Amino acid sequence: MKDSAWQATILTLFPEMFPGPLGTSLAGKSLKDGIWTLKTLDIRQFASDKHRTVDDTPLGGGVGMVLKPDVVAAALDHVADAPGPRIYLTPRGRPLDQPLVRELAQSDGTVFLCGRYEGVDQRVVDAAGMMEVSIGDYILSGGEMAALTVIDAVVRLLPGVIGKEESHREESFETGLLEPSLYTHPRDWNGIQAPEILASGHHRKIAEWRQAEAERETRERRPDLWQRYLQGQMPDKDEQ
Ligand code: ADE
Repeated sequence: MKDSAWQATILTLFPEMFPGPLGTSLAGKSLKDGIWTLKTLDIRQFASDKHRTVDDTPLGGGVGMVLKPDVVAAALDHVADAPGPRIYLTPRGRPLDQPLVRELAQSDGTVFLCGRYEGVDQRVVDAAGMMEVSIGDYILSGGEMAALTVIDAVVRLLPGVIGKEESHREESFETGLLEPSLYTHPRDWNGIQAPEILASGHHRKIAEWRQAEAERETRERRPDLWQRYLQGQMPDKDEQ
């Protein structure tokens, strides 16, 4: 187990967006408790001209502006000692999923580069060997909300943030299935009954019902996940 805090380092033109929602609830409490730390760096402070220019027009023409490689490289150099992988948040990146979240939670931290405008000059992304990550197939106005999302998903996995280890094990994506529907009291709400089995006190039967429900819901709602789950259940041909 890691004995030091998980370190988030964020390069952004809008440092005031942090910690934002991560200052409240579980993430906020664990930040105050020192389970993780947050350091923001304003990319603009690395501009070299008197106008503090950070962007320029795209080579070859086109709309919008591109973050300059020299400015971004200077910002990255400044955090050379910060631990963990370097992530550039972009809709062109590898889609974020729970295995990647787990991998980041196991490292000592992560450095996030948040783009604005049309994006960042690719040369600096490649030269720094950055991992490009997308949080979904839609376009945000910048990488900041994406970084907040990644950090939220990581922080809740850090030891001590969520009380019971149990609460992770059964979660969607940890098992490869969506979670079954949830119910609470009263059992009869407006004449609609919660499933009877859940009030039976029969733990094994309840577990079987939940597994069957998780499989059914995954098959119906997310055929893509269901196919992957089935493949994971099949013995690997190469190992036979
Ligand atoms: N920046 C803009 N849109 C994004 C997305 N979908 N994921 C990550 N970074 C982004």
